Amino acid sequence: MAFQMLLFRLSIILFSISGVYSVDFIIKNNCKVPIWPGALTGAGNPISTTGFRLLPGSTTTATVDVSTTQWSGRFWARTLCSMGANGKFACATADCGSGQITCNGAGAIPPATLVEFTIATNLGQDFFDISLVDGFNLPVSVTPIGGSSGCQPVVCARSVNPVCPPELAVKSPRGLVIACKSACMAFNTPEYCCSGDHNRPETCPPTNYSKIFKAQCPQAYSYAYDDKTSTFTCSGGANYAITFCP
Ligand SMILES: *[C@@H]1O[C@H](CO)[C@@H](O)[C@H](O)[C@H]1NC(C)=O
Repeated sequence: MAFQMLLFRLSIILFSISGVYSVDFIIKNNCKVPIWPGALTGAGNPISTTGFRLLPGSTTTATVDVSTTQWSGRFWARTLCSMGANGKFACATADCGSGQITCNGAGAIPPATLVEFTIATNLGQDFFDISLVDGFNLPVSVTPIGGSSGCQPVVCARSVNPVCPPELAVKSPRGLVIACKSACMAFNTPEYCCSGDHNRPETCPPTNYSKIFKAQCPQAYSYAYDDKTSTFTCSGGANYAITFCP
């Protein structure tokens, strides 16, 4: 009996050593219109999907194996997409330029709301944030599921589009504001891009434009050095729900 118990314990230990440990990103479309989420791997194993269509109310899960190496990457959602007459798939916001529904290693063309992760191996500490540094297109929330410590939801619930200054606005053919550029993208100056003499937190404070983004989404990055209020952690091997239009 004791021997059987020993074998049982050993097999559990061996299973956890050799087991595949993965993280699920459960992506939901809570918007009233279809969206086309995209995913980009920065480092680590490839993710199970790089882009797909998601109808209102639907959920799709993307998975990454983090048993042997950490994963970093980002998610966003494309809007107003269609197949062009040239046979190329394209979107009015956050397009990845692949010409297909899958992004195949291409990232979002700004402006785009980004959800960024670094996922640890072996139940270590994950880092995540919502970034408006590359502008805004859709509200989003990130909710850790499980995990053991520090795991709190992060939300950018209020749309920036209705308060976007005209000089930053991206409009649909019908004149609706469908995305809001960052001041860096619109004006490309060191003060707004935190480059040149402004490439340190001390020399790149919030600007009148970044404050507009921060007022709508206090938990999101509104410019490059917005770290103090915008980076979140979660330990213990959580999965994550990412909801667009939460
Ligand atoms: C932000 O500041 C710049 C420079 O002072 C000014 O030209 C611009 O109109 C301001 N924009 C807003 C939205 O306050």
